[in-house]
Amino acid sequence: MKVLVIGSGGREHALAWKLSQSKSCTKIYVAPGNAGTAEEPKTENVDLKAEDIEGLLSFAKSQEIDLTIVGPEAPLVLGLIDLFEENNLLCLGPNKLAAQMEGSKIFMKDILEKGNIPTAAYKVFSDHELAKKFLENCEIPIVLKADGLAGGKGVIVAFSREEAFEALNSLMVEKKLGNAGNNLVIEEFLKGEEASFIVLCDGKNIIPLASSQDHKQRDDNDKGPNTGGMGAFSPTPLITEELNKKILDEIIKPTLDELNRRNIEYKGFLYAGLMIDKEVIKVLEYNCRFGDPETQPILMRMKSDFLDLCFKAAKAELNNLSIEWHEKVALGVVMASKGYPEKYETGFPISGIFEETSSAKVFHCGTKKESNQICSDGGRVLCVTGLGSDLNDAYDEAYKATSKINWDGAFYRKDIGKRKK
Ligand code: AMP
Ligand code: GLY
Repeated sequence: MKVLVIGSGGREHALAWKLSQSKSCTKIYVAPGNAGTAEEPKTENVDLKAEDIEGLLSFAKSQEIDLTIVGPEAPLVLGLIDLFEENNLLCLGPNKLAAQMEGSKIFMKDILEKGNIPTAAYKVFSDHELAKKFLENCEIPIVLKADGLAGGKGVIVAFSREEAFEALNSLMVEKKLGNAGNNLVIEEFLKGEEASFIVLCDGKNIIPLASSQDHKQRDDNDKGPNTGGMGAFSPTPLITEELNKKILDEIIKPTLDELNRRNIEYKGFLYAGLMIDKEVIKVLEYNCRFGDPETQPILMRMKSDFLDLCFKAAKAELNNLSIEWHEKVALGVVMASKGYPEKYETGFPISGIFEETSSAKVFHCGTKKESNQICSDGGRVLCVTGLGSDLNDAYDEAYKATSKINWDGAFYRKDIGKRKK
């Protein structure tokens, strides 16, 4: 089977790596990929951007691709799946309407509200004066969310009223995020610990993947600005078997039921960002894709044939399937460029990247090869993932490997998986 993976991050490297292990996989193209995907067996990079959906369509047709798997949200929100399906190409990912679960916070909150799914109380604003009035009297902290896609910059948690006014000003008056800030969700601040719960859907059936936890802040002890994710591990002890069932019954299934009521079919990975406060679980966000960096530790633990799963999900044949997992714990540490998540420089040669071992694997995020040398090429550069008998062991494996790697300006958190309760 010939597979096309769309995207260029650590998630896509992990997808390609796991797909390549499948016997039925003959070839993987990654568009545009990175220096890591270029090195995987059966895998080749294609110089097409993830948002170039017409270019990707021509490529998939000309190469007679059997299955296309989409990593990032942007091509999904642009309607890549609709375009591919109109052209009779099999693919895995939600269509344009279903991708609104991530493409529009207002749409997502409305699904949650109408489906009676627990989430933070919220109001929608499209008028600056009304939003300002609301912020004058609301409880603090308060959370402001730009409605549209904003590359991870659209959510501001304001811990003072001044910060809330500043955030409102930058989104609605200065338009720092362009049209994404025309409409805002302003919502209640939730306390607790965050976990990621990702499921694979085929339009009718749902299979939960292993649970995981991300670390969104840049610095140790969850300090510093929000990022795309600085490290993740799987499974998380936060989600017990009992909670797993509760999340499926009270959150995931009612969400898909509400989408179905609107005649929206959801196919692909659905990512619920949850806030867990003892027994109370509320939805913080939905993403219409697999998580990054969650994919890296999750796929390190998968025993099942991943291509078979993706193929069956795309064909709506997930009924009666389940996924087998290694008992072990996997933990990924993101190595980033100095300055990330704001301005950073790229192009620095990376030393110390090693061959995969049975207990560690370096997934590339933003890298490229220049005159035979792997160089940094993004904010998040590598995700070094370790596999161990428990969380401490996985931590040791991941950090032992991380400490061997370096480039000018590399930094990483030292406390992935060590969050104090
Ligand atoms: P989102 O893109 O919606 O996941 O938001 C990014 C991050 O902001 C989340 O991972 C949380 O850490 C934080 N966040 C979002 N919504 C809330 C909320 N209602 N209460 C507390 N923190 C939140
Ligand atoms: N790890 C967070 C995300 O994928 O959005």
